[in-house]
Amino acid sequence: MEKKIILSEKEMPEAWYNVLPDLPEPLPPVLNPATKEPIKPEDLLPIFPRSLIEQEVSSEKWIEIPQEVKKVYSIYRPSPLYRAYEFEKALKTKARIYYKNESFSPPGSHKPNTAIAQAYYNKIEGVKRIVTETGAGQWGSALAFGCKMFGLECTIYMVKVSYEQKPYRRLLAQAWGAEMFPSPSDRTEFGRKILKEDPDCPGSLGIAISEAIEDAVKHDDTKYALGSVLNHVLLHQTIVGLETQKQLEKIGERVDVLVGCVGGGSNFAGFFLPFLPRRLKGEEIRILAAEPKACPTLTKGLYKYDFGDTACTTPLLKMYTLGHNFIPPGIHAGGLRYHGDAPILCHLVNLGIVEARAYHQIECFKYAILFAQTEGFLPAPETAHAIMAVVEEAKNSSEEKVIVFNFSGHGYFDLSAYQAYFKGELKDYEYPEDKIKEALKQLPDVDI
Ligand SMILES: Cc1ncc(COP(=O)(O)O)c(C=O)c1O
Repeated sequence: MEKKIILSEKEMPEAWYNVLPDLPEPLPPVLNPATKEPIKPEDLLPIFPRSLIEQEVSSEKWIEIPQEVKKVYSIYRPSPLYRAYEFEKALKTKARIYYKNESFSPPGSHKPNTAIAQAYYNKIEGVKRIVTETGAGQWGSALAFGCKMFGLECTIYMVKVSYEQKPYRRLLAQAWGAEMFPSPSDRTEFGRKILKEDPDCPGSLGIAISEAIEDAVKHDDTKYALGSVLNHVLLHQTIVGLETQKQLEKIGERVDVLVGCVGGGSNFAGFFLPFLPRRLKGEEIRILAAEPKACPTLTKGLYKYDFGDTACTTPLLKMYTLGHNFIPPGIHAGGLRYHGDAPILCHLVNLGIVEARAYHQIECFKYAILFAQTEGFLPAPETAHAIMAVVEEAKNSSEEKVIVFNFSGHGYFDLSAYQAYFKGELKDYEYPEDKIKEALKQLPDVDI
């Protein structure tokens, strides 16, 4: 049996898969926070280009990938699917474990799958600059890369704790021409307000989103881009699952469990959504999400309408949320520190189709190291959560289960986190129940 299953460039999927028409029950609508009525697509025009808004609500099952996007994708796509033989041996499991390796992209993660597409659609609609937030720097560096490929300017608000802990991704984004600011920053009204209340605020994705949106709304030639959560982001990521399906078909392999880590839900959803029609037709495919115990959105959050940002400027999304004011502890998986999750993913969790588990960071690092020592690739701390869930599945498996997971990114820019782990300095954060209860009290009063 071969170690890796490769597709040629010609075999790259021609279209992204849109799950909306296939959902067993319709997705709860996105609400306008002022009227609490379903939002009209035009309401989003100040922040997004029209073509992405159309994708957000599209009822077309397949959306063609533009040639220009495929051309940039071809730098790193199709990505290989690996069989984790050595990791299986180390775990002494009968399970067959595969991983889709999204770490081959120039920024080192799945994030450019949507960054390239978003930069393209902004470019053809005449936008000059894209502004965004970033946690660990994966999304920011991916957007910087995507923007550079299409000649757009890029401004990034990076969560302060990550800006300080992870200088290398910041420098990578700068190498692709982006301007970077630690958030909360003094560049926006909202940032200045937060800094006045708490000058040492470590920042959060919610705060950085608020700053980025404020910047976009105040400049006519500028739009905002989000690296996760929204339907069009998940849509672009389905290229991951579509390729995985082709690769498994090539070797005549079935799938029993699909695993991925969840920050806002984009890598995991993009990976499993193309398999959903099979599951809905009765195939026994389990879909398992892994998240940190320090930010346990799917496992401890409430399924309610909430804002996507801390300043309450975004539309209301129905999602599992820890409250828009929840500031998670500074764990090293910076990309998993978001208070909510993608509405599509949350809907499927609520329908009982997707399961979720939460893990402490130290156990994740332990198995990330085992993975590196057996398979060679050092995972990003986010990806290590998926690996932890795979380990649990594989260890509890008596039969020959087939587990396929999304290796969402490498950890070569996260070496300071590994250093902390080696020195025994990492801490596990207990679920801050009282803080979450406090944040949940401030949820907007809507339910339909
Ligand atoms: C490597 C990696 N994996 C996973 C995530 C989580 O994001 P999402 O849930 O949108 O895939 C991130 C976010 O930055 C990331 O960098």
